[in-house]
Amino acid sequence: MNRKVKIAVFASGSGSNFAAIEQACSADELNAEIVLMVTNKPEAFVVERADKVSIPVAAIRPKDFETKDAYEEAILHALRESGAEWLVLAGYMRLVGPVLLMAYPSRIVNIHPSLLPSFPGKDAIAQAVAHGVKVTGVTVHLVDEGMDTGQILAQCAVDVVSGDEDKTAEAIHAVEHGLYKDTLNELFSR
Ligand code: GRF
Repeated sequence: MNRKVKIAVFASGSGSNFAAIEQACSADELNAEIVLMVTNKPEAFVVERADKVSIPVAAIRPKDFETKDAYEEAILHALRESGAEWLVLAGYMRLVGPVLLMAYPSRIVNIHPSLLPSFPGKDAIAQAVAHGVKVTGVTVHLVDEGMDTGQILAQCAVDVVSGDEDKTAEAIHAVEHGLYKDTLNELFSR
């Protein structure tokens, strides 16, 4: 097998995608190694998950910096020390700015719980249910300066459970982990 790709996973919440990526790396189902977990929320559950599997954590709070650039420079410093080659966003609730975009051109990936370009931004599942669409889904895409606007790499459709946000979210999360793993493997083997 080829050399493992060094990735940093960015997350702000529960971290089920982080855990799935970590398990896939450990099981050699993903040709990558998580060298750092970056979070803007030190209290997020994903930090516990990372600690449990001994993945180094950079918990960096935007409010400790005067500007977004300074916040991202601090992240970049940690990324450079870790040797990360790709940034994998998994529920990272911040818009990536120019500092990271310029440091990792076309090397930042995100997963979003809708069929983009429908329902970008926050609460994509709630938006889809409220809109009454019958089908929504999951998109994996490269990150650019916009909100969920970068080049689409993979999509998977998921039926909306009429009027039921929780059940629809469950169905979406069930496809996210496999789709992210497959898409990252494809990307890293190019
Ligand atoms: C996922 O639905 C992902 O698509 C979105 O944020 C959510 C993160 O979930 N970007 P988790 O923290 O990985 O469980």
